[in-house]
Amino acid sequence: MGFLMADKTVQCPKCSQKITISGNPGEIIKATCPSCGNKGRVTFKKIVKKDDIAIEVSKLRKVYGDLVAVNDITFSIRRGEVFAFLGPNGAGKTTTVEMIESIRQPMGGTIKILGKDISTSFDDVKEKIGILPQEFRSFERLTVKETLEFFSKLYKKRASINVIIDAMDLRDQKNKLYMDLSGGLKQRVGVAIALVNDPEIVFLDEPTTGLDPKARREVWAVIASLRDEGKTVFLTTHYMEEAEFLADHIAIIHKGNIIAEGSLEELINKYGQGSILHIKKCKTKDAARILKENGFNVNTKNNGDIEIKIDFKERVLEILSILRHECIDYDSIDIRCSNLEEVFLHLTGARLSEEAYDAR
Ligand SMILES: Nc1ncnc2c1ncn2[C@@H]1O[C@H](COP(=O)(O)OP(=O)(O)O)[C@@H](O)[C@H]1O
Ligand SMILES: [Mg+2]
Repeated sequence: MGFLMADKTVQCPKCSQKITISGNPGEIIKATCPSCGNKGRVTFKKIVKKDDIAIEVSKLRKVYGDLVAVNDITFSIRRGEVFAFLGPNGAGKTTTVEMIESIRQPMGGTIKILGKDISTSFDDVKEKIGILPQEFRSFERLTVKETLEFFSKLYKKRASINVIIDAMDLRDQKNKLYMDLSGGLKQRVGVAIALVNDPEIVFLDEPTTGLDPKARREVWAVIASLRDEGKTVFLTTHYMEEAEFLADHIAIIHKGNIIAEGSLEELINKYGQGSILHIKKCKTKDAARILKENGFNVNTKNNGDIEIKIDFKERVLEILSILRHECIDYDSIDIRCSNLEEVFLHLTGARLSEEAYDAR
């Protein structure tokens, strides 16, 4: 496939030297900076036809006694995207994802992975998926390398363990025992295990729950790199920021139902309350009147701060030019954008963080 070879210019993170490297789409090339000797990897994005469907779920259902854990849900995931299945604890995320992984038996509906109905053809796809289960733990007294070697032997198709160790940034830990690793490193080993068969689709069930913010960011970087390699990622999470940061497509699940679906932008446009520009400590008495006269939706706070609703981002420039033109004096301004928390609040009347403790 030499004709696909592309050049990529990257900057050495250590000395800022620019280096041009050639590679094929999907390839990860080891590079050494000619200037400072720093070693790193360069990923060449895989070209995926985004319209291809990786997973298609239709009217999926699961009931436990009186509880409808998953209520006839329908959704699909495109190849090469990070799909976030977002919802509070108890919403039905793990039940859904484990039915797709063929671990739990659905009571209704169909699931297709890469075009194959898994109720009859799971064997055709099981080598093409990788799984990080919720609250995953591995063998305490195996080293990272031994762990990956063990899981790798379960599959016919095997990725190079050294490449995975490099990609997950586990080089310094490869000879350490699993039990001696921090929570963040254990999760990275979990993701690494999900990659031993070089899967096309990776399922990650709450991969950052319980991690500190730094470790969480490190796992996010790993997930973003999976997308760069062209893998499809099914991510379940109850963290808004995680979905906001990583997802191409988001489905919000609540009490077993998908209550909204779309890209972050689509969800915010449809269910968010719009963005607000705050003028802090406004010192000009007539400012609110002037802005109102110019057709803005203005709210004056008791402390003198002014809030203006922004329907289109172009309006920010208009507001700034009025402030300047009318010599309106203030301490500072900031813009608060709508986010998924607001979307969830609008749809359910509750905050996701509160819902986490009282999902049903
Ligand atoms: N094996 C089971 N038996 C009975 N109830 C279950 C079982 N698995 C899950 N549930 C219930 O189904 C609901 C959804 O659970 P789950 O899919 O684990 O949610 P999530 O992953 O979103 O936190 C919860 O109320 C949970 O208690
Ligand atoms: Mg769960």
